[in-house]
Amino acid sequence: MAAIRFELESKFGSTYGEDEARALIDVLNKQAPTSGNACIAFEKEFAAYCGTEYARACSNGTAALFLSLLGLGVSKGDRVLTTPLTWIATAAAGATLGAEVDFVDVDLATCNIDASQIEASLTANTKAVLPVHLYGQCCDMDAILALSKKYGFGVVEDACHAIGAEYRGRKAGSMGATGCFSFHEQKNMSTLGEGGMITTNDPALFERIALYRSHCTRVHGASTKYCSLDPEKFPVGDRPWWQDFDDCGYNFRMTDIQAAVGSIQLRKLDVMNQRRIDIADLICDGLEDVPGLTLPTVQPGNKHVFHLFPLRIDAAEFGMNKDQFIATMINEHGIKIGTHYIPLHWSTAFQRRGFKRGQFPNAEAIFECQVTLPLHPRLTNEAVDYLVESIRKCCRR
Ligand SMILES: Cc1ncc(COP(=O)(O)O)c(C=O)c1O
Repeated sequence: MAAIRFELESKFGSTYGEDEARALIDVLNKQAPTSGNACIAFEKEFAAYCGTEYARACSNGTAALFLSLLGLGVSKGDRVLTTPLTWIATAAAGATLGAEVDFVDVDLATCNIDASQIEASLTANTKAVLPVHLYGQCCDMDAILALSKKYGFGVVEDACHAIGAEYRGRKAGSMGATGCFSFHEQKNMSTLGEGGMITTNDPALFERIALYRSHCTRVHGASTKYCSLDPEKFPVGDRPWWQDFDDCGYNFRMTDIQAAVGSIQLRKLDVMNQRRIDIADLICDGLEDVPGLTLPTVQPGNKHVFHLFPLRIDAAEFGMNKDQFIATMINEHGIKIGTHYIPLHWSTAFQRRGFKRGQFPNAEAIFECQVTLPLHPRLTNEAVDYLVESIRKCCRR
C-alpha cells in the first residue's frame, strides 16, 4: 500500500533504466560536451520520428516557444493568440518578445482552443497563433491551418503535452510552422528533468531558430552550412580565428548528456505512451458508471497520448465539489490530484495586462469543475485500481 501511495502522490512521469545509464556514462567518458554529436543524433532521430525536415534541441519547452516566435519575427506591435488553458510559458513566449498576447476561448469537449472562434479574434497585426495540444490530444489543426493560409499568420504548435500524439495521420509538432516540445521531468519523455525541441519543415525559419539558440554565431570550419563565415566578408586567410555574430542571440543549448538520454527515451516513447493509453482506458472503464463524472473523449482521427487525465465533476450529482474532492483524495487516500490549469487571464500577469474575469467562459467553467489525475507509465494496475476505488468512494458519501 505504501508503494501504491508513493506512485500516486508523485506526479513525475520520468522512467529511466539501464539503457539511459549506459548512454549517460558513455557521454561522460567523452567529457560531456554541450550540443555535440549526441545532440545532432538526437535531433535527426526526433525529426524522423515527427516526420519533419529539421529539429533543433534546446534547453526547455519555454525556449522552444520563444525561439519559434522570434524566428517568425514576432516583436513589439505584433499580436499573438493562444488558449487561456495552458501553462504560462505558451503565453509568456509572445509577451517576453514585447508582443500583445490575446486569448481565444476553448472547446468544452476537448479543452483545446476553439478553432471556430479564432477568426473573430484575428486583427491585421496577428502574427502567430499558438494552439496547445492540451493533455496529449491535438487541436483541430485542419481548421487552424486553413485560417493560417487565408490570413498569413504563423502557427506554432505547443506540443509539450503531446509528444507522439497524432492528428489524422500526422504527428503533433509536424503541422505548423514549428512544433515545440518539452522534456521536463513530468512530460511523456524526459532528458534528465529539463529539455526541449523545435521541429520545422521551413529551412529559413530553421536557420533563424538555430542561430538565435546559440548566440547567432557563424563559425568558420564548423560542420553545418549554418555555421560558416561569409567568404565574401572574410577572406580565407582571415577566417580560421574569426567568429561572426549575425545578431545578439541567446544560449538555449542542450547538453550531450541530456541528448544521449533523449535518444534512448525516444526509442521507448511509443511503449511508454501506449502504457498511458492503457491506463486511461482502465480508469475510464472503472469510472464510466459513476454519476456526476465526465471522462475525457478522444476525437475521431486522433491518437491521444494522455500526458494528463482530465476528469470533470458535477458537484450536485457526484456529491462533492472539486475542492472537496482534491482534499479528500489527498487526506484520506494519499492521492495527489492536479488542477491544470488556472485560466491565464485570471493570473496576476494577465490581469495586469487588462484582462478581466468572465472573458473566456468555457475555460473558466472547466477550471471550476475539472481536476487531473496522476498518470504515468510507472503506475501498476494495482495502483490504477486503488485510484479508481478511491474516486468511487468519494461519490455520494
Ligand atoms: C503546455 C506547456 N507548454 C510549455 C511548457 C514549457 O515547457 P518547459 O517546462 O520545458 O519550459 C510546458 C511545461 O510544463 C507546458 O505544459
